[in-house]
Amino acid sequence: MPRSGPSGLRIKSPDLLLAESGADLDGNGLRRSMGLFQLICFGIGAIVGTGIFVGLSDTVARSGPAVVVSFVLAAATCVFTAFSFAELGGAIPVSGSSYSYAYATLGERTAFLVGWCLLLEYGVSVSAVAVGWGQYLNQLLGALTGWQLPAALANPPGAGGLVNVPAVVVLLLAAVLLVRGIRESARATAAMAVLKLAVLVLFCVIGFGAFRGGNLAPFAPQGLAGITSGASLAFFSYIGFDAITTTGEEARNPRRTIPVAIMVCIGVVTVLYCLVALSAIGALSAGRVAGRPAALSLIVDRVTHSSAGGAVIAFGAVVAIASVVLAVMYGQTRILMAMSRDGLVPRVFERISPRTATPVANTWIVAVVFAVPAAVVPLDVVMNLTTIGTLAVMAVVNVSVLVLRRTRPALPRRFRVPLFPLSPLLGLAFCGYLIYGTGPATWLRFAVFLAAGALVYAAYGRRRSRLAAAGREAEDAVPQIPDAVPQAPDAVPQAPDGVPAPAAPAARKG
Ligand code: ALA
Repeated sequence: MPRSGPSGLRIKSPDLLLAESGADLDGNGLRRSMGLFQLICFGIGAIVGTGIFVGLSDTVARSGPAVVVSFVLAAATCVFTAFSFAELGGAIPVSGSSYSYAYATLGERTAFLVGWCLLLEYGVSVSAVAVGWGQYLNQLLGALTGWQLPAALANPPGAGGLVNVPAVVVLLLAAVLLVRGIRESARATAAMAVLKLAVLVLFCVIGFGAFRGGNLAPFAPQGLAGITSGASLAFFSYIGFDAITTTGEEARNPRRTIPVAIMVCIGVVTVLYCLVALSAIGALSAGRVAGRPAALSLIVDRVTHSSAGGAVIAFGAVVAIASVVLAVMYGQTRILMAMSRDGLVPRVFERISPRTATPVANTWIVAVVFAVPAAVVPLDVVMNLTTIGTLAVMAVVNVSVLVLRRTRPALPRRFRVPLFPLSPLLGLAFCGYLIYGTGPATWLRFAVFLAAGALVYAAYGRRRSRLAAAGREAEDAVPQIPDAVPQAPDAVPQAPDGVPAPAAPAARKG
């Protein structure tokens, strides 16, 4: 039976979340095939992409050489929040990630709004990332063959074109790979992650070879305001590390491997981004990097005095961004699957194909729906909205850790955030700081987006909630004696070995 909490929050116990995970209503389950190395590659695959290859030059335009400070501030937000993700991902290893953690701690309404914001983090950002891919693909084609797609077919309206065909193509290709099976997708992601790390390391070697200390002055031309808004921009480059927690039902030994994979990914990516930013500005002054499209290719061209180096970087960008599309789209499908399981979105999203063990219909719907903005929306339009949506989700995750420690102190946790409660509180403060840096126009757009989410919840999710339906059925079936028995902290019966018993049938009804 669900726990509603004293104010009718509809809180879902972690045991119930775990008991319901892993299989759809027909008993078709996901496969546990991802080990630690694959999880780390998946994380790198989800993180390193458009943000560093395309967005770096815009961040430099705000922060100047102090872009390194902006990256460190964005990284601090991620590190503290990653601790929280790691604790929750280890304690409640299910596909729904932050959506499920919010359901277990803050209740259904907050969980729905988190799921709604995740549409920004995963769905909308997958469109943005695909747009970045299209730009680099065209640049690579130009460098290799001298031929490029006509502008009308490579750009959205408002950016000199009609439709962005490469962006649509990469989304559909990612869907083909994802429906074939998680093992195939993980293999492809691992190969792409290794390749893009190699390309960025190569960039650093070339950049530091031409490093001039004088390029670092003036260090912060726009002062603290520039560093703050630069940090909010730089944050986009880190989005995706939490996608690791969406593998909760397909990772082997997830209570151990998920926290370790998150920490390794954040550490590697932070060091790499700082080195890339420093070497880029050291090799070419901040003024010449700021606002330039494909800045990394440009720097390598200038330093090596040949276009071959730039082509290698463009190739790295094409691979890097394709792997972000793959990993982020995967995360979106798993979150929708978890929400569908709870009755908050239609049931089609939770169906798993018995042949491929993947949510086939879900994947195709996501690919087709998000191909539309990818085809017609310019890159920069959605980036800020993605960032604020992700920061809001991360703020909730930090709060969830605080709440779960109080409500379920004995829940097994392979990883515990250090310096509790300071670490999640700092994570929360940093999220607030970066949200502040996105600026009033983005706050306003986000408020409208949230209000729309609240309406959808009231009109659909609240009525269709399986948790609420299960509670009503239980109330009808069992005569209630008000206040006679104190409510146990969690309602799902425990098997003797501590593994949650299967979900009550009522909780699984559509
Ligand atoms: N962090 C991802 C990227 O930079 C979204 O492409």
